[in-house]
Amino acid sequence: MLRNGKFRIAAILLLLLIKATVHSQVPKNKGINHRDKEKIDNLLKTMTLDEKIGQLSLFRSGWDVTGPIINVNDKKLIGEGKAGAILNAYTVDYVHDLQQLAIEKSRLKIPMLFGYDVIHGHRTIFPIPLGQSCTWDLKIIEDAERIAATEATAEGINWTFSPMVDISRDPRWGRVAEGAGEDTWLGCKIAEARVKGFQGNDLKANNTLLACAKHFAAYGAPQAGRDYNTVDMSQLSLYEWFLPPYKSCVDIGVGSMMTSFNEIAGIPSTCNTWLLEDLLRKEWGFNGFVVTDWTAINELVSHGIAEDNKDAARLSLNAGVDMDMVGNTFLDYLPELLKEKKVALTRIDEAVRSILEAKALLGLFDDPYRYCNKTRQEQEIMTPGQLALARKMVSESCVLLKNPDHILPIPGKVKTIAIIGPLGDSKTDMLGNWYAAGQWEKCITLLEGIKNRTGEHMKVLYEKGCNTNDSDRSGFDAALKLAARADYIILALGENGWMSGEAASRSNIDLPGVQNDLAETIVKTGKPVAVILFNGRPLVIARLNNLPVAILETWFGGTQAGNGIADVLFGEVSPAAKLTMTFPRNEGQIPVFYNGKNTGRPFNLNDRDAKYVSRYLDCPNDPLFPFGYGLSYTSFAYSNLETNVDTRNIAVTVQVANSGNCDGEEVVQLYIRDNVGSITRPVKELKGFQKVLIKKGETKTIAFNITTDDLAFYHPDLKKYWEPGEFTVYVGTNSAETLSKSITVK
Ligand code: BGC
Repeated sequence: MLRNGKFRIAAILLLLLIKATVHSQVPKNKGINHRDKEKIDNLLKTMTLDEKIGQLSLFRSGWDVTGPIINVNDKKLIGEGKAGAILNAYTVDYVHDLQQLAIEKSRLKIPMLFGYDVIHGHRTIFPIPLGQSCTWDLKIIEDAERIAATEATAEGINWTFSPMVDISRDPRWGRVAEGAGEDTWLGCKIAEARVKGFQGNDLKANNTLLACAKHFAAYGAPQAGRDYNTVDMSQLSLYEWFLPPYKSCVDIGVGSMMTSFNEIAGIPSTCNTWLLEDLLRKEWGFNGFVVTDWTAINELVSHGIAEDNKDAARLSLNAGVDMDMVGNTFLDYLPELLKEKKVALTRIDEAVRSILEAKALLGLFDDPYRYCNKTRQEQEIMTPGQLALARKMVSESCVLLKNPDHILPIPGKVKTIAIIGPLGDSKTDMLGNWYAAGQWEKCITLLEGIKNRTGEHMKVLYEKGCNTNDSDRSGFDAALKLAARADYIILALGENGWMSGEAASRSNIDLPGVQNDLAETIVKTGKPVAVILFNGRPLVIARLNNLPVAILETWFGGTQAGNGIADVLFGEVSPAAKLTMTFPRNEGQIPVFYNGKNTGRPFNLNDRDAKYVSRYLDCPNDPLFPFGYGLSYTSFAYSNLETNVDTRNIAVTVQVANSGNCDGEEVVQLYIRDNVGSITRPVKELKGFQKVLIKKGETKTIAFNITTDDLAFYHPDLKKYWEPGEFTVYVGTNSAETLSKSITVK
């Protein structure tokens, strides 16, 4: 009890401050100018119900061998002003023709949105997002999205279903390929960089587009890692680990938000009033529009929460959904529902307004053909500068997992390289999944990338050895013969591009097919072997890891995959990427992630056989490769960790010496632990990082400044604040190898 009046006033002020900083109730000003506001007000007064509902409906376009096509009926609806947006339609002429239908045929001439999944590039395809996150380079991520936006808008697109900011701790879930890994703090920074890259500073510019954060919410936490499965977690976990990246997108002004397929605690997101109205709009102040995921309204029937599609449309609109993605439920049922007074016209108007506002923000009312510029289409796609950035990003995303005896980089004296493996010359797989308008024909494979570098002085040979995912060993002999002719072997192994992504969950995430057998056979030659991995998720690679090989994780690098990887293989670039998702030893450890809790019976490394502690009988607790892990061609030595607490500021310094034989970049990582909290806290939480170039022989002092805000966490009342007390500060090269120091913050 606070008896003292002074204390009471101070406490009230503090509470108000917390409320103001944590829950901003004030909707942000969107930047709709007076003229546009008036235009939208007038439109809303003039529009028929059908025209309004049209704005709330997203139709799809398709592709045939002859080019883009659209359903005749949908085309008719556009002409009647009953289609608000189209997805998967791109290229200038096509978009122009469809937009022209809306502008010249329809009564009110309302321009359409053209949406597309620009997930890791549009034509120039960058590494898959999970690979991008391993760069720990926010600038290059933003720059890549800038390029993606430039290319997409040069082909008529003005809205993208990106970024995907779902945090996931389960590598069985195939969509981890599209995200930024397991860490919430890093996920927030990357989410911001992506939205900035897409939307730029001026949405009206012809090379920026509207972003759409997805999938709201917690789509990355399906039970058992199976796509579309149920999500159920404590509210605290939801607030602390899964919601923040969506919130970061809102805070930075993302224009739209996509609902997720899953339910959370019994209510599917697509009809979740708490999620869409109370949290997203009222608490976070989101003022863009909410679109569903593909037929997510119709799926409310299968979820068992709606009786039929009509009921689903009612639930969804009333919960705060503004646009139905291809499900036609709004189109088919809102008129009846309105007549029956099961939905209100004010709610329909509100939804229409939010979509018209997005169109105004993009400048579509001033110029509906703003994104239909043929010169841009010819000149701003796959330019040398864009390809160069893609190549750089590939080399920055390659994580060196293992490098015994300095197998990598490839020594200059090597005369013949044998590339063996199903992914050594596979153009189609380099794009991974969700590759927008990327063209596999334009991809550089590993074989091509290596040949581009070696020129005449090194012989480069190739054999496939086996397929990615079957039991055929008939290619092993040829592979062995080829290996015999070489003095250095590169094994190109992994998953096919389609083995991760949507609807691509795996219960067994090891190297598929007979690839482990192939590797074991080739290693018997005794020649130096470097394994290049291509995959869309952390894999279980225990068998591979037992071999005396170097392992370079390259994800799916996109258009410039082969060139970027070759830059690393030949030592032009020293690898500096760090894992953003833990590599488990086996599937039974999943979920295994770095920021877990200590438990009441923690496992102690010094007492490995203790029985009644939290551990497995048949496997260590720690993963094969932890979060933040990645080697370099050089080595770094950490020393002299110092901390200084000055009221709300915590200064941390550490010395990092390049103790190896070449220059290299290092991602210096800062973690904290709140030793005693009013609720239990994770054993480590990432709170900062710096990517620094340290020259051979050089020592750098790296300084971090964090504040008490960085110590804050959600409490059972869902308020976020920090608690004074003892903390441990960790700084190191990954989440497991760190120096540490205790501090007291009062
Ligand atoms: C995916 C979304 C995507 C949408 C449109 C859905 O199946 O879940 O991520 O944006 O399709 O292509």
